[in-house]
Amino acid sequence: MKDYDFIIVGSGIAGLYTALLARQQGEVLVLTKASIDECNTKYAQGGIAAAVGRGDSPELHYRDTIAAGAGLCDSEAVRILTQEAPDRITDLIKFGVPFDTLNGEIALAREAAHSVPRILHAGGDATGERIEVTLSNAVRRSGIKLLEHCLASDLLVKDGAVHGVRAFDSRYGVTEEFLGRCVILATGGAAQLFKYNTNPEIATGDGVALAYKAGAEIADMEFVQFHPTALRLPGVAPFLISEAVRGEGGILRNVENGAFMAEYCPQADLAPRDIVARSIVAEMRKTHADRVFLDITHLPPRTIPARFPQIYRFCLDHGLDITKTPVPVAPAAHYVMGGVKTNVWGETNIAGLFACGECACTGVHGANRLASNSLLEVLVFSKRILERAKGQRPSTSSGQRRGRPASVTPRSGEACELEEREPSGNVPPLSLSALQPLMWEKVGILRSREGLEEAAITLATWERSLGLPTGRPSYELNHMVLVGRLMAEAALLREESRGAHFRFDFSSPSPAWLKHIVFRKGASEG
Ligand code: FAD
Ligand code: SIN
Repeated sequence: MKDYDFIIVGSGIAGLYTALLARQQGEVLVLTKASIDECNTKYAQGGIAAAVGRGDSPELHYRDTIAAGAGLCDSEAVRILTQEAPDRITDLIKFGVPFDTLNGEIALAREAAHSVPRILHAGGDATGERIEVTLSNAVRRSGIKLLEHCLASDLLVKDGAVHGVRAFDSRYGVTEEFLGRCVILATGGAAQLFKYNTNPEIATGDGVALAYKAGAEIADMEFVQFHPTALRLPGVAPFLISEAVRGEGGILRNVENGAFMAEYCPQADLAPRDIVARSIVAEMRKTHADRVFLDITHLPPRTIPARFPQIYRFCLDHGLDITKTPVPVAPAAHYVMGGVKTNVWGETNIAGLFACGECACTGVHGANRLASNSLLEVLVFSKRILERAKGQRPSTSSGQRRGRPASVTPRSGEACELEEREPSGNVPPLSLSALQPLMWEKVGILRSREGLEEAAITLATWERSLGLPTGRPSYELNHMVLVGRLMAEAALLREESRGAHFRFDFSSPSPAWLKHIVFRKGASEG
């Protein structure tokens, strides 16, 4: 059987960018469970944050990121993120990503909780698509081995080190094993667990589930970011209406036409995401409505199609001319801050296993991600993985790579086990259409002990009933149940409100909770 230097799981920005860098160090295999370009990356709208503009600096970007993270960012990781950002943008430009320009300079947009315009974008609001196409073309040209429709189902781990991946090829219905000295998880997010979400179908948390099953540490799973403004039209999946629309002057109004954000926060429509999402929910409750409106009808009509061509076209295709009519919106699950815990080199506690992108928890986002920091996080930490991997041999007996890496960032919080729960006889049969509303209602924007316990018991009962997967949907559903458990149990443990995690029964932040919740299978055995 062939032995690869790098097995990369996923083909969003994290998988593709890492693959292109890894190719310079050895043989690379990319496994991806759908077609190469089906991923969250393709749908990114706003852009990438980096301090490249006049009047901006890594220090300012650092401060904004730390402020958004509500006390839980890893300051070393944020320092690295913000300092290395301009160089990584240069790398992306060298790969050919066509960022938009204005008067011969990179155009920079404003998004919520950034103190200056700092967001690079491409094709107006088609940033993710431009990146994905550029990188996937480069991978296709590079000779990197790529297996599409191949879903990683397990990590092969022996003596504390990873040595390969088991995968299910959904075209032929067969399971195969691939061997490699480094395995890099780049499997993206998990917002598909929630009834209303902005993510494509692939976002089912697989990497977190694989890593947890293999004994990796999983951190911060209670922190799920709900984007304030997803299109809310009957029969239409929630399509993202970028925060950059508010950056251009969009105003949120309730169904009675009242602009309300200034009542909730001095930054009004440009307040941090978690605050805007909760304020919208409060306004919807107050007005007995399932939506509010994002009003851009006061902007010059030509600005909108030029600056937001995808959003404009999508809405127009659904009968809404947003230059004339306010857009009906409501919050939707968007991004998972938690994930496979890594140090600032992308290393996990399993030798040879790395994670990057949305499935990783590098510590840069803390309790609430600053808009447009996630694409940036991928670039910065993927590069560092390859720097770390340089020269490392495939040996599983290398003392340096065994167990916990020496450079793990000291983020407090000992790993603990998932709570054992008695199964309940009063639980509906498991299906995606049962899981998504449960997560939305009980583990969603506003949480309480009662609801979280109900979710935790239901998920634990489902977990016990899981059969052997037979195809991609059942592999994914099994992963979603485990990831849902990690989210619900972490949210139950965190008896406070902080960043994106809000509990009615503990509605303020508590200094006692300035720490991370980390789960690891077998933690109680030491
Ligand atoms: P993805 O791009 O999701 O790629 C994951 C890959 O892993 C996919 O190829 C998937 O098929 C594959 N995969 C998953 N599980 C398996 C498995 N078991 N086996 C094999 N393959 C697997 N962030 C910003 O910074 N700026 C923005 O403007 C922005 N806008 C956004 C807009 C939308 C609508 C969405 C959904 C997200 C947005 N984000 C934005 C977030 C950002 O796009 C993502 O966090 C980022 O693209 C994640 O990249 P990734 O490579 O980690 O994951
Ligand atoms: C958006 O364009 O609003 C999304 C930006 C992000 O998720 O970072």
